[in-house]
Amino acid sequence: MIPATNQRPSATILFIFGGSGDLNLRKLTPALYNLSLDNYLSDQFAVVGLGRSEYTDESFRERLLEGVQSFSRRKDDLENTWTPFSKAISYLQMDAGDATAYSKLTDFVAKKEGEWGGQANVVFYLAVAPQLVPGIATNLGKLELCCDKSHVRIVVEKPFGHDLKTAQELNTLLGGLFAEEQIYRIDHYLGKETVQNILALRFANSLFEPIWNRRYVEYVQITASETVGLEGRGGYYEGSGALRDMIQNHLLQMLCMVATEAPISFDANEVRNKKVDVLNAIRRIKPEQVKDVAVRGQYGPGEKDGKTIPGYREEEGVKPDSKTETFAAVKLFVDNWRWEDVPFYLRTGKSLPAKATVINIQFKPAPNYAFPDEATENWSSNQLTIGIQPAMDIRLRFQAKRPGQTLAIDPVEMVFSYKDAYEEQEPEAYETLLLDVMTGDATLFMRADQVEAAWKVVTPILDAWESEPVDFPNYAPGSWGPDAAQQLVEKDGFQWMMK
Ligand code: BG6
Repeated sequence: MIPATNQRPSATILFIFGGSGDLNLRKLTPALYNLSLDNYLSDQFAVVGLGRSEYTDESFRERLLEGVQSFSRRKDDLENTWTPFSKAISYLQMDAGDATAYSKLTDFVAKKEGEWGGQANVVFYLAVAPQLVPGIATNLGKLELCCDKSHVRIVVEKPFGHDLKTAQELNTLLGGLFAEEQIYRIDHYLGKETVQNILALRFANSLFEPIWNRRYVEYVQITASETVGLEGRGGYYEGSGALRDMIQNHLLQMLCMVATEAPISFDANEVRNKKVDVLNAIRRIKPEQVKDVAVRGQYGPGEKDGKTIPGYREEEGVKPDSKTETFAAVKLFVDNWRWEDVPFYLRTGKSLPAKATVINIQFKPAPNYAFPDEATENWSSNQLTIGIQPAMDIRLRFQAKRPGQTLAIDPVEMVFSYKDAYEEQEPEAYETLLLDVMTGDATLFMRADQVEAAWKVVTPILDAWESEPVDFPNYAPGSWGPDAAQQLVEKDGFQWMMK
């Protein structure tokens, strides 16, 4: 989490494997550039792109500048600010599969530490395809400098494993090479300002906590919907699907933020222990229950906003008879004193009508309506809506008396909006997360047991879906997914809040 005001990391060298790749271009370099504008980078800071492509330092900087021009949240003053920032950037051409090439990294560190006159933090960021992670980690693990637990860190992007078994294998491999406190497993949702704010909302206020439980909460819904289809990521997505891509990580992490008990401190392990407790308390789904609690969908061809949209199966890199789901909805229960029998509905998908991530906490109806029937025609129970993105707000719905001589009750909203309350622009998730890695704060990163506990939640669903036939495609692009997703909540007497 963002450290106390202006706490800056000490001397840091950040190596980015996959330096010329998309993630660096779109997210990492723009994030570093913005951190530099806010004076969050050390004066002794170097970032080194690594890859097989040929670049000079200069041509690499030019390439990254294109990324900042297109994707940075701030770019007004690039003329004056890019050059001083870009001096920290260099490029090393290397084949990450060649173990002998890694001495280049050690040489670079020695050279910089010599210049700076002291030890630096060294961060290895693996912005590469998941199949390259074990090889790179193994080669890094052989470097003597990686034994330094307090100064050397490795960052691993999602997906972390393809299922429980492969995640366990990766954890075992990384655990044999690095200490757990050196391993930073990214879930970029945890870096989002509004996701972090869930802890502030719940634990910096005394108002919500007493009602944040099964006595008052009827159900919780978490929706992360996207309007886009695959955006050229067919190769990756085809082996993943919505459950692995979004629910196993981002949505379950948001569920943890909503459901966790209060941590006794913001120590990284304390916060993560509490979140693991939530994951472990999620009721295990039996194979025969999967059809009742999980829905999958895949969009077919259709029209959206007057444009013809190809179906998922027509996308590049996708099999014509693909069984990969582009939509998933699940109903989960957290079996503990606080949440027993409160349904948590999670839903995500591609090619849906809106790009929005929203959490709805629906409270139970007031126990007794003393009001006459005609006064309560518009009655609706209290609801707290947490807008994660793009709307960053919190809305509390409650009942109010409509002004006038006749008694009528209407639902109204009390709204907190980041835009109205603060002038500052919120940092991008990757800014927060990169700064945390550089300062050595792992609170917002996934610990080994957390990743595995999350895989355990989805494994029965993955297994059932793998073994059962499915009739895809089953939803039109621009719709809210297959009909069965509506039934998932309707059979419990509810509606999706976002529709
Ligand atoms: C990524 C998924 O982790 O998150 C993508 O792999 C998805 O498929 C993305 O589009 C959504 O992130 P955000 O921050 O745009 O909601």
